[in-house]
Amino acid sequence: MHANQTLPQGVQPGEISFVLGHPDRQALPIEALHEAAMLALEEPLRPLEYGPEGGDPELLAFLRLWHRQREGLDLARNQAMLIAGATQGVDLVARLLLAPGETVLVESPTYKDSLLIFRDQHCKLHGVKMTPEGIRPSDFETAIQDLTAQGERPRLFYTIPNFQNPTGWSTSLARRKTILKIARRHGILILEDDVYREIAFGAEPPASYFALAGGEGVIRLGSFSKTLAPGFRLGWLLAAPAIIERIQACGTAQMGGGANPFSAAVVAAYCRTAHWEDHIQRLRSIYRTRCETALAALARHMPAGVEWTRPQGGFFLWITLPESMETANLQDRFAVRGVRVAPGAQFCTPPEAGIRGFRLAFSFASLDQLKEGIRLIGEALAEG
Ligand SMILES: Cc1ncc(COP(=O)(O)O)c(C=O)c1O
Repeated sequence: MHANQTLPQGVQPGEISFVLGHPDRQALPIEALHEAAMLALEEPLRPLEYGPEGGDPELLAFLRLWHRQREGLDLARNQAMLIAGATQGVDLVARLLLAPGETVLVESPTYKDSLLIFRDQHCKLHGVKMTPEGIRPSDFETAIQDLTAQGERPRLFYTIPNFQNPTGWSTSLARRKTILKIARRHGILILEDDVYREIAFGAEPPASYFALAGGEGVIRLGSFSKTLAPGFRLGWLLAAPAIIERIQACGTAQMGGGANPFSAAVVAAYCRTAHWEDHIQRLRSIYRTRCETALAALARHMPAGVEWTRPQGGFFLWITLPESMETANLQDRFAVRGVRVAPGAQFCTPPEAGIRGFRLAFSFASLDQLKEGIRLIGEALAEG
């Protein structure tokens, strides 16, 4: 009943859009959130006022419990705070912990809006090539050594370890451990953007960098955007107490209020009523079916020489065209057929590394749209 009233940001009427990672509208638990909002307003003052800098204590308590139950990760009170979405977490880290001109190592490709944030803060970016098991530790170490030799010692490594945006690939446990050791040896902070952890189609993801590091030298970001609803603008940041203190001492945090108290009160009420666990299981099944549908359509319709990733979770997969083709030249052919994808260069450092790639979000379009849109992409590519 709610599904087709208006289209979400960036989606045009009449098109099949595989551009943005919007959640499936059927996955938004509207009735339960309605109930949670009413519950939150039973205590009408708290959600409507400024809250503590670190965010709603009830929701933080739930998050500590959740991390303990799911991952065996014990968090102290001063190791976690709420933020206005994981994106705000990237911005806070770049703004408060990096100096302009410092170098950040990123996976290539990676989440393009984090690249924008690092650029906004005048950081230099250096890409390390992604592979199906994450970046190669040897590539990571070589990049650090080369940059250090040029006088540009990197300060931070930004990684999306689970079901990465845009490839869908995850970093293996063995690589996490080796990369962590290398980062420690060179004094590099790891920023772990873990917004897709819960959207696993099969096995649970490996231990996070944060857990492997005992909470030192790693900042981890989580979000309710992919699991509950992006409109809450609510996520969380885990870090060593000194980092949390630094973040909470910044001007925008000291102004008070904490991250979105009203959203936090609604989400806390939702979690209190024990919907959360069932909801996560339902999400996994919804997105697994979507991904399987996309993969089956790709197998059926892609011409020879086109390659694609096979995600075990998340919202996205990545398609690589044969040597003779470039995504930018195909956009018009896709557009006349009413299909849109996200061209690859914007995700890559340097951008040229992505000209034969594009990202396909399978999270939002319906199953029929996935089948038809991928058929149309295949038809456009078959023109040569
Ligand atoms: C890796 C990654 N981080 C963060 C976000 C955005 O998260 P939030 O809505 O919590 O800011 C996205 C959404 O596409 C993402 O893919």
